[in-house]
Order: sequence, then C-alpha cells, then structure tokens
Amino acid sequence: MTPVAWHSADGIWHHLHLAPEALGADDSGVPDAAIVVEQGAIAWVGAHADLPDAYRHLPTFDGQGALVTPGLIDCHTHLVYGGQRANEFAMRLAGASYEEVARAGGGIVSSVKATRLASEEALFDAAVPRLQALLAEGVCAIEIKSGYGLSLEHERKQLRVARRLGDVFDVTVRTTFLGAHALPPEYAGRSDEYIRLVCEEMLPVLAAEGLVDAVDVFCETIGFSLAQTEQVFQAAQALGLPVKLHAEQLSDMGGSALAARYGALSCDHIEHLSAAGISAMRQAGTVAVLLPGAYYTLRDTHMPPIAALREAGVPMAVSTDHNPGTSPALSLLLMLNMACTLFRLTVPEALAGVTRHAAQALGLQATHGRVAVGCPANFVLWPLGDVAELAYWLGQRPACSVVRQGRVAVDGMQVQRSAA
Ligand code: NIG
Ligand code: FE
Repeated sequence: MTPVAWHSADGIWHHLHLAPEALGADDSGVPDAAIVVEQGAIAWVGAHADLPDAYRHLPTFDGQGALVTPGLIDCHTHLVYGGQRANEFAMRLAGASYEEVARAGGGIVSSVKATRLASEEALFDAAVPRLQALLAEGVCAIEIKSGYGLSLEHERKQLRVARRLGDVFDVTVRTTFLGAHALPPEYAGRSDEYIRLVCEEMLPVLAAEGLVDAVDVFCETIGFSLAQTEQVFQAAQALGLPVKLHAEQLSDMGGSALAARYGALSCDHIEHLSAAGISAMRQAGTVAVLLPGAYYTLRDTHMPPIAALREAGVPMAVSTDHNPGTSPALSLLLMLNMACTLFRLTVPEALAGVTRHAAQALGLQATHGRVAVGCPANFVLWPLGDVAELAYWLGQRPACSVVRQGRVAVDGMQVQRSAA
C-alpha cells in the first residue's frame, strides 16, 4: 500500500470520528465512521461497519482516528479592502470611541479611500493571504461583502475580486452587496440621494452582472436609518435577492424586526436586540449572527441576548466579521473560543454556529454545513481527541486536513491514500 500522488478526494475515508452535529441537528457523533466521496460529492456516510460492499473497490484514505467536522463556514466577512486601520486601534487605545473615530473621518470611510485607490489586482493580492489563513483552518465557504467602494465602479471592483477569490481557490463564495455601509464623502448631507443611487443604479447594475448573491445594510445612527434600510430591502426584493442586516450593533434601531419582515437570511451583531426583534426573527426563520471579534475589539460590554435567543430557538451563527476596523480577525476557531468565553455559547452551539447555522445564514443549508449524501464533499479532519478542543485552544492552528469541493485542499495530517 504505497501512497500515491493525488488531489481528488474520491474514495473511502475511514478511521474517522464524526463529531456531533456533523450529520445534522441532534446527531451525537459516530466513533468509527467512514465517508465515501464520488465525483467530488458525498455518496455515503455512516459507521464503517455498515459500509456497503458496492464501495469496497474504491481507494481508501486513512483518517488515523481524526475528528471530522463539516467544512467550516465564515458567514460574515468584509475580506476585500485596501489598506489597514491599525492607527484607529491606537486611537481607541488613547481613548476615542468607535463613533468618535468614525465622525473624525476615520472608520469605514478611511477604508473607502484606500479601497478606491487600489486596483482590482491589488485588492485581490491583499485579500489572498487573509483568505488563505481562513482556508488553512478548515473554512470551505465564505461570505464576502462589498461596502468599501460606495460607488458603482468601486463596489463592482470589490465584488469582482470576491468572485475571483472563489474561482481561484475553489471555495464557495457568497457575495453580499453592502453599498449602504456608510455615506461616501461626496454625498455628505445627502444620504437620501445616495440611497437612491444604491437602489436605482448600483444594485440593479451589479445584480445584472451576476455579482450579488444577497444585500446588506448598516442600519445604525452612524449608518443608515430604518426608512433608508427599508428602501434598500425593497430594491433587493424587486430583484429577487435575499437580504441581511448589520442590526442593533450600537443601539436598538428596530432593524431586526424590519429585516425579519423581509424574510432576512440573518441579522448580524445584534448586541442591542430587543425581545420584539427576537420574536420577529424566530417567526421569519432569520439567523442571529454573533460576531465576537467586533465585540472584543470594540471592548463592547453590551452582550447580545444569548439566553433569550436560545430560549426562542433562533439559530445562532458565529463569524469573524473580518474587517480592517472592528474585527481584524483571521481565525474562525478563535471566534469559536470567543463565542464560548464571551457569549457563553456551549461547544455544540458554537460548532453549529460555524457549520449548520452559518450555512442557513447564507441560504446554503441544502448543500453546506453538514456531511450529508448528495452534498459537495466539504469536511475537515482534525488531529484532536475532543470536539471541545476546537473552541478551547487560544491561537492554536491544528494541523488539519481539509476536503474542499471534493478535493484535498489542505493536508496537515498527511492522510495516506491507498489503492483499494
Ligand atoms: O461589521 N458595523 C459596520 N461594519 C463593520 C465595520 C466596518 C469597519 O469599521 O470598517 C462591522 O463591524
Ligand atoms: Fe460586518
């Protein structure tokens, strides 16, 4: 049985320990499991003892007892931007608040300047190492927002880069148009006019170019009002595009209830979410996306209402919110740790938050977030004995092996392939 050169993950993956949740809700794990991959998709999964004879002629991959989770999903990122904002980190250390930094011309608008100045090529090159850091930790699907261009030309540039990252790295990328992220300086004092541009020109054109999978708004006192948010949602609805919302991060604007009325995929941040917002989200099936990296970076002290979300049965996802201002985080595992430590999520909740529920936040629940027959093969082998270790270590990068889109994309565990 000599190892051979390979890239395709087609074959029988055995000596696996399927983590709880790998097969879906309420699954408690399978200790000696196997996964059959055929033509890049999951053809069979279950206890190795039950493997049908029909598959026994296939090549095998020895998982060496690895813990297996579905491919991780980072469902809220602003991965494509120019420059960085370490200076604001320093300003905040000197006492300025996030709002003060924003009002002083820093914040989102400073990333807009750098993004506008950058070529598409430069934006791509800058995003590559960020994406690679996430992929190395088992991310198999990622959402990437625009929102640092704030004009047709520059939003297009960001979204094109997001699409290209998906093609080049063979990773599922969902693009989100966030034209209503901040008011560009040339529209100062004319926010309604800018929202008209977003709704009547930017969104329809970019959607027609196939660059938009969903639409988001930053609904906040330093962002856009509830009425403006609704205008953007109406424009999205007219184009048949799903919506999501940066909601109740700094104050309770009632954005979540509005988003729920539009059947939003998710409401994100939600530190100040009210009981009414929770019940609207529950009824609409909207996912609560928790972003502990931003909470931590801003040294926020107002916790999202985790216990009430849990009690209401609102699905909770966890994401990096990677962005240059409030969450320069490039580790989804670190976010798992923070979601548990800061927000008191249980380990199973945190794991569902970066798999099943994150898939739902992107409308990808039919194909991602579980190891299920018919889904593209996206799973991760971890050299860990206990699923709690995924959230327990701080800053460790376990040498995992990643099957992404049916291919062995990362191989830290040096999995041996043998002919049948
Ligand atoms: O998700 N809250 C608004 N948007 C980003 C921050 C973007 C920035 O500061 O550049 C967020 O935290
Ligand atoms: Fe964000």
